[in-house]
Amino acid sequence: MSDTRAMSDTKAMLGVCYYPEHWPEDWWAGDARAMRDAGITYVRIGEFAWSRIEPEPGQFTWEWLDRAIAALGEAGLRVVMSTPTATPPKWLVDREPGILPVDEHGRTRGFGSRRHTSFSSAAWIRESRRITEAVAERFGKAVHVAGWQIDNEFGCHDTVLSYGVEDLHAFRLWLAQRYGDIAHLNAAWGSVFWSAELRSFEEVSLPVGAVTETAPAARLDFRRFSSDQVRAYCRMQAEILRAHSPGRFVTHNFMGRFTGFDHHAVGQEIDFASWDSYPLGFTEQFPFSEAERAPFIETAHPDMAAFHHDLYRGIGRGRFWVMEQQPGPVNWAMWNPVPKPGMVRLWTWEAFAHGAEVVSYFRWRQCPFGQEQMHAGLHRPDRSLSVGGAEARQVAEELESVGDLPGNDAARVALVFDYEAAWMSEIQPQGADFNYLELCFRWYEAVRRLGQDIDIVAPGAPLDGYAAVLVPTLPYLPDAALAAIRGTKAAMLIGPRTGSRTVDFGIPDTLPPGRLQSVLPMRVTDVASLRPGLSHPVAGIVAGNAIRWREWVETDANVLAQFGDGSPAVIEAGRRVYCAGWPDAALLESSMRRVLRVGGLEVLDLPPGVRLRRRGGLCFAFNYGPEPWPLPEGVERRFVLGGEVLAPQDLACWHG
Ligand code: GAL
Repeated sequence: MSDTRAMSDTKAMLGVCYYPEHWPEDWWAGDARAMRDAGITYVRIGEFAWSRIEPEPGQFTWEWLDRAIAALGEAGLRVVMSTPTATPPKWLVDREPGILPVDEHGRTRGFGSRRHTSFSSAAWIRESRRITEAVAERFGKAVHVAGWQIDNEFGCHDTVLSYGVEDLHAFRLWLAQRYGDIAHLNAAWGSVFWSAELRSFEEVSLPVGAVTETAPAARLDFRRFSSDQVRAYCRMQAEILRAHSPGRFVTHNFMGRFTGFDHHAVGQEIDFASWDSYPLGFTEQFPFSEAERAPFIETAHPDMAAFHHDLYRGIGRGRFWVMEQQPGPVNWAMWNPVPKPGMVRLWTWEAFAHGAEVVSYFRWRQCPFGQEQMHAGLHRPDRSLSVGGAEARQVAEELESVGDLPGNDAARVALVFDYEAAWMSEIQPQGADFNYLELCFRWYEAVRRLGQDIDIVAPGAPLDGYAAVLVPTLPYLPDAALAAIRGTKAAMLIGPRTGSRTVDFGIPDTLPPGRLQSVLPMRVTDVASLRPGLSHPVAGIVAGNAIRWREWVETDANVLAQFGDGSPAVIEAGRRVYCAGWPDAALLESSMRRVLRVGGLEVLDLPPGVRLRRRGGLCFAFNYGPEPWPLPEGVERRFVLGGEVLAPQDLACWHG
């Protein structure tokens, strides 16, 4: 089983994001006391403060930050210090314009917001090293500094990929290392197609800006390279921080709904994962139908935060924080509703139920100036407590009365989540709505509706010990992923396009599912993407429709369900079930039920807005829906929070 659990009983704690540089200094001590009185333990600071730390090249003004940290520490708070590399100041950009990223049209992206840097710029790496060392030397051993956040949200605002001169040079070096000989690159990329053969690595260009699409294998390599650059950058900072700041943790705050780099790999560089949870903003942005979204506009979709908690618990090898928790309306979605009363409390408790060690709100106080003046905080700009702030206080009180939370056990169900799969579906969707993240989310939603807890794991993570394993799709199966799938006795549901590509984005010689044919005796002879409104009905032991995607399969294995033309739709070989299409909700549900039953799991039928989650011996229930939910009868429950009827926007927690 993968390493996504194993925590002993812990005190769940609250945190907050604070920007002393936004407020008069004579507010700091009062703010710090108020934080302590509100039950807050951790305060994250500093991630955008470079222009105040180093206002002139080489001239550091540390004293204000010393005083801010002292004010927080003296109130009993623990500081999460950040490296300020998300916002290099103007003087640095003017001195080193080569640090700026370049977009896919060749335009340099300018100064004036944040993340205006390329991960491949030598000057940027040098400057990052310099400021990281300076901050780490200054605060690494400060008594009140408990740990570090590296940078802020790698990849935010579409900044993993950059198409400048230095990006190209770094890409060529990466390719030379990967392939050794240009002939190998030509073979891997299929360069003979359209006469794209190259004579040397010096002839490589970035896979962008051509008349029409460039080779898919070249684009996949560019994604792999760009992801490796993020990892190397993160490692560079982590090494500096560890050298200067012994005994302190190092983390990074990842984003929701984001697959721009391999988070499993970057997660290896830090002590635990953190992520920034904005459930309403993400619900607004997610490609739900309007009918699906409607009931959840002001509460969030009931799987939106949970999916990411489970993902980042895996990426953090069992440990994660919510570094930024939505406290009220945000400013960046198309529409920005106020959460219904109770939701800030519910989201916080839900994070703890999924194993979060700390939930830290963004931000202490709404800022009356700047780009995020429409973004709520725990306080309004006039310093009064916001609705979200009052709910955070309530959680703090509840945490006191509940006491330590038990360690987080392994789930019985695992979902395999792969960043390369996301890139491959973006590079070659073949149907406009074949969206990897959405596919995974739909599978997660379906199995959570059936009352299950889930671990989200990397391909190649050991799968033995799970009762059921879900593989929504895994176009390319590295050796470790194949071994894990072959090695587990879990019941398994495997989705379309799995095994459909080689490491070089080619079609396998034996047709899909390629390497998986050793355990799934079948071959996919034809595929079709299905435009909205077109569906292919599936009937049999499981039933529903294929939407978006459909495959034609030849097999000697057991056929659980067929398409209307008699071709196999759901195939079972031993305990592995393959679904030859994008399953609609009905097909997904019936296939899940079968797989869970084969795995020996007990299935519940939850209402659309209700979800459960166990943490050790505690069971939690959350109601995102509009109706009260009476908990199933006949169970002895010792309630810690709530009671037998779960009101809308409320939660319950019991031993049982
Ligand atoms: C996050 C970011 C914060 C702030 C917040 C607003 O993505 O890390 O700095 O911008 O969004 O919701």
